[in-house]
Amino acid sequence: MLVSDLAWWLGLLLGAVPLLALAVWHCNDAFYRAAFALLRWRNNLPPLPLGHMGIPFLGETAALQVRGRGGHHRSHLFGSSTIIMSLPAGNKFVLQSHDSFGLRWPVPELVGLSSMFNVEGAQHVRIRGFIVAAFSQPRSLRNMARAIQPGIAAALQSWAAKGTIVAAKEIGKVMFHSICELFIGMKPSPLTEKMDEWFVGLLDEMMAVMGLPLDLPGTTLNHARKCRRKLNSVFQEELEKRKKRVTSGRTNEEEDGDEDDLMSRLMQLEDEQGNKLSDEEVLDNMVSLVVGGYESTSSAIMWAVYHLAKSPDVLAKIRMKYTAKVVEETIRLANIAPVLHRVALRDIEYGGYTIPQGWHVVLWLRAMHIDAKYYPDPLAFNPDRWDRMNGRSSRNHQELSNNLVFGGGYRTCAGNMLARMKITMMIHHLSLGYEWELLNPDEGVSYIPQPMPAAGAPMSFRKLSTGT
Ligand code: HEM
Repeated sequence: MLVSDLAWWLGLLLGAVPLLALAVWHCNDAFYRAAFALLRWRNNLPPLPLGHMGIPFLGETAALQVRGRGGHHRSHLFGSSTIIMSLPAGNKFVLQSHDSFGLRWPVPELVGLSSMFNVEGAQHVRIRGFIVAAFSQPRSLRNMARAIQPGIAAALQSWAAKGTIVAAKEIGKVMFHSICELFIGMKPSPLTEKMDEWFVGLLDEMMAVMGLPLDLPGTTLNHARKCRRKLNSVFQEELEKRKKRVTSGRTNEEEDGDEDDLMSRLMQLEDEQGNKLSDEEVLDNMVSLVVGGYESTSSAIMWAVYHLAKSPDVLAKIRMKYTAKVVEETIRLANIAPVLHRVALRDIEYGGYTIPQGWHVVLWLRAMHIDAKYYPDPLAFNPDRWDRMNGRSSRNHQELSNNLVFGGGYRTCAGNMLARMKITMMIHHLSLGYEWELLNPDEGVSYIPQPMPAAGAPMSFRKLSTGT
C-alpha cells in the first residue's frame, strides 16, 4: 500500500508538475499577447517582437538568452516586460531616438535625482555641455594629465617595491586617488580610503543587474543608501569650504590647491541667464561622475595590463606608438557597459514590430562587441584590427560605427576622452618602465556584473633595469 502510494505521488510529480509548469509558462505569454492584441486592434499596430515572456513575475531573468532570436525579441526581465535589442541598427535607433526612449535606473536617487544621469531636456544639455568641455578639451586634458601623473608614477614604484600585486585592487586604488585629486583636490588619506569603500558600496547596488531593489537591513540597497548619505556629507563639507572661500574673497590656491578642481568649476558654472547649479545639483553630479568614471576606467586598465601580460608581441609594439589601438581593443573586449537600459515613452514601431509604451528596452551591447560578423575572431586581443577599422572605405566606416562601447547619441559617455587619456597614460608608464607577469595565466573570469578575472589578476611586478 505504501509503495503504491509512493508510486502515485512520484507519477504525479514526474508527469503532472512539469505539465502544469508548461501550461503556466504558455499562459503567461498568452496573457501578454492577448493584452497587446487589444491595443494592437485599437491602434492598428504591428505585432510584438518574437520571443517569450517566461514564467509569471520572474519572466526569463534566470535563463537570460539573447542569441538565436534575431535582432530584437520580447522577454520579461528583472520584473519588467522587456524588449532586448542585440543588433547595431536597433541599438543605434534606440540611442538616437531620445524623444521616444527615456532613461531607466532601478534606484535613481542613488546617483541623485538632479544628476546628469537622470535629468532630461535643457537641464541635461546644460550640465552635459560643461562636463564634456571639462573632460574633452585638449587644454583640460593636458592639465588633468599633469595633475595625476606624479600619483601614477609613485604608485607604480610602490608596486615594484612589493614585487607582487593583485592588479584589480592596486589599479582601483590608483584610479580612486586620481579621481579625488581631479574632482575635489583631495590627497590620499584615511578619509579617501573610507570614501573609496562607500563608492564601492554604491556601485555594488547599481551594478547588481539581477538584484531586487529591497531596502531591508543587510541588503545591498540598504548599504548603498547609507554609503550615499556618508558621501553626501563629505561632499557637502567640501562645498561649504569652497563657498566660504569665495565669500571671504580668498582665491586660496596655495592653501588647498583645489582652485581648479571639478567641484570648484561645477560651482562656478552659469547658464545663459546667469543661473548657477544648486548645491544639490553639484553634489549629485559629483557623485555621478565618480560612479561613471571610477570602476569603468579601473576595469579597462586592469584588462589592458592583463592582455599585455599575455601578448608580449603587442607590448613590444607599444613601444613603437601603438598605444591608441591597444586602448580601443582593450575597451572593446572589456565590455565595461555590457548592457544599457531605456524605457519606451510611447508605442514605437521598429523593424515591423511594436515596442509598447512603458516596456523596458535592454540594449545588449556585449552581444554586438563580440560578434564575429563585426569583429573577426572576436575574443582574440588583436589591436591590429583597428588598422582595418580606421580605414576610409564605407565598410570600414560602418564597422567603426558599430562600436558602441561608450554608448551613442545624446548620452554618449561624457568622460570618454578622460578615460582614454588615463588608460593611455597608465600603459605608457607601465610599458616604458616595468615588466609584469600573471601568476595564474589560466585564472577564470567572472562575467556578472561585468567581466573580471576571478582573483583580480595577481601578478609579479618589477622595474625594468632600463626604466626611468
Ligand atoms: C572605459 C571607461 C568608460 C566606459 C566604457 C564608459 C561607458 C559609458 C557608456 C556606455 C555610457 C552611456 C550610458 C547610456 O547611454 O545610458 C556612459 C555615459 C556616461 N559616462 Fe562613461 N564610460 C567610461 C568612463 C567614464 C569616465 C572616466 C567618466 C567621467 C569621469 C564617465 C562619465 C560618464 C557620464 C557623465 C555619462 C552620462 C552621459 C549623459 O547622460 O549624457 N565615463 N559611459
